Amino acid sequence: SRVRRRRYGRDRDLSLSYKNATAAMPQLQQMEWIGVTRDFVKILLNDAWVTLRACDPTMTLLDWLRLDCRLTGTKEGCNEGDCGACTVLVGRLRHGALRYEAINSCIRFVPTLDHCHVVTVEHLKKTYGGLHPVQQAMVELHGSQCGFCTPGIIMSLYALWLSHDAPPPADRIEEALAGNLCRCTGYGPIIASFARACEIAAPAQDIFRAGRSRTAAELGAGAGDMIRFTHGGREFSAPATLNQLAEIYPARPDAVLVAGATDAGLWVTKEMRRPAAVISLQRIAEFDGVEEGRDKIIFGAMTSLADARGALARLHPQLDELLRRFGGEQVRNAGTIGGNVANGSPIGDLPPCLIALGAEIVLRRGAERRTLLLEKYFLAYKKQDRRPGEFIESVVVPRLPPGALFHVSKISKRFDEDISALCGAFFLTRDARGKITQARLAYGGMAATPKRAAQTEAALLGQRWDEAALEAAAAALARDFTPLDDMRASAAYRALAAGNILRRFHIETTQPAVPTRVAGNLRSGAHV
Ligand code: FAD
Ligand code: FES
Ligand code: FES
Repeated sequence: SRVRRRRYGRDRDLSLSYKNATAAMPQLQQMEWIGVTRDFVKILLNDAWVTLRACDPTMTLLDWLRLDCRLTGTKEGCNEGDCGACTVLVGRLRHGALRYEAINSCIRFVPTLDHCHVVTVEHLKKTYGGLHPVQQAMVELHGSQCGFCTPGIIMSLYALWLSHDAPPPADRIEEALAGNLCRCTGYGPIIASFARACEIAAPAQDIFRAGRSRTAAELGAGAGDMIRFTHGGREFSAPATLNQLAEIYPARPDAVLVAGATDAGLWVTKEMRRPAAVISLQRIAEFDGVEEGRDKIIFGAMTSLADARGALARLHPQLDELLRRFGGEQVRNAGTIGGNVANGSPIGDLPPCLIALGAEIVLRRGAERRTLLLEKYFLAYKKQDRRPGEFIESVVVPRLPPGALFHVSKISKRFDEDISALCGAFFLTRDARGKITQARLAYGGMAATPKRAAQTEAALLGQRWDEAALEAAAAALARDFTPLDDMRASAAYRALAAGNILRRFHIETTQPAVPTRVAGNLRSGAHV
């Protein structure tokens, strides 16, 4: 088709498609320098295993489903992770447990899904021989009009239903749907249909719960192999361990590392880039996890934003709010903490928070590791202190000392699923006399990189945290930054908002009874 040729050229060649999938198993190759290597990926698609040999390294899951597998229930809306029309469930094994999560198929590369279970909307109907409870409830409560968004909404609701034995509060349903945009129905009937779905059937009866141990055993096979192949002169590798990654990356330092692909996916779908080499980090479980110590929390770089949220929320509740507003659920399920930091975007949400908290990153090249204060990592616009062949292994975040003050504000045009115009995170400590002893104030959206406000911090040090110090600090912001001026916000707006969130920090820490945030179900559509 024309779409296929435009995106992937004429040289695409899948050795096996979904329709003719068989149990054919190619020979495993032994490469003495790396262990067992294979040149194919295997995906459990609904109820059939599919083997893909030497496919396009950046072919999206959505295109594969629609163009090759002819599973056209999954829709293409924006092709950039925003609208949720392409939502599917991906089941994967992590540290022995099988989890199903909603992701955007339009920005996920198929070969990164080795030994994952991809579940599409077609499978729901097939499993039940009729409408699934979530679909039935949407019909009964008129949750669909033109229907374009409906398959994606069904899959998001299905993911929620699978993980809840009783209906959760409305704001949890709203949160699960924040990454699904519907232009015609309105969300009232869609949200109401979730409770109805729970009445029709309990998730305990779902086939994915019942068949979980068998699926987990199947997904676990082949987990330790290295995957490498070339397609049309472009290389794809998917190491299974950190040591394999540390070995192959320095030899191919121009390769694009792909974690959750919620940034990298858009370079392919929107900028039409075709990287010569891709290394997927998806299969490496070793740096996917959180270690919560007494003094610090260590996040493996591949920890998803969804998985990082609990530990960050325990660090400070405003980090929970920030994560709730970070993309939609599909983006948080796929996107990683390492990707957010490594990408070096001036408007990434976590870097200002992590800088204010005094976080460090551990970088690794081959067997060599170095630790760097995160604020030193960002050198210039999209230029980071990362050497060829070096990757981020972990992010180390100190806990807040007793009595420290901390604050995060994200300013965006929409409350849900919107990139920040501005994000500020502030950390202060005071001595017994109330004088400020440490100040780390970091902003995103105010410069070419996430950056500390050195002059503003200097204005606060040695002062009491009172209104005079606050206003002196707010005035100093003009000396620290020449804000970005773009479609998200003008420079003047950003300059004004940067001072106002500092004032919000002051109000929240000195007059806690004054409401400063929009709460509960009023949040959707609110301009915060
Ligand atoms: P990828 O896309 O896989 O990679 C991003 C970059 O990091 C690439 O250059 C990659 O090579 C590099 N990289 C990844 N892991 C490593 C590693 N371990 N070592 C070295 N380099 C590495 N961001 C926000 O901050 N706030 C938002 O609210 C937000 N909303 C979004 C909404 C949508 C719809 C989308 C599509 C994106 C949004 N993003 C947002 C951006 C994105 O989700 C985040 O930056 C995310 O954390 C990226 O992680 P990833 O794992 O997907 O990275
Ligand atoms: Fe819009 Fe994928 S098509 S999120
Ligand atoms: Fe038309 Fe949602 S029903 S976009």
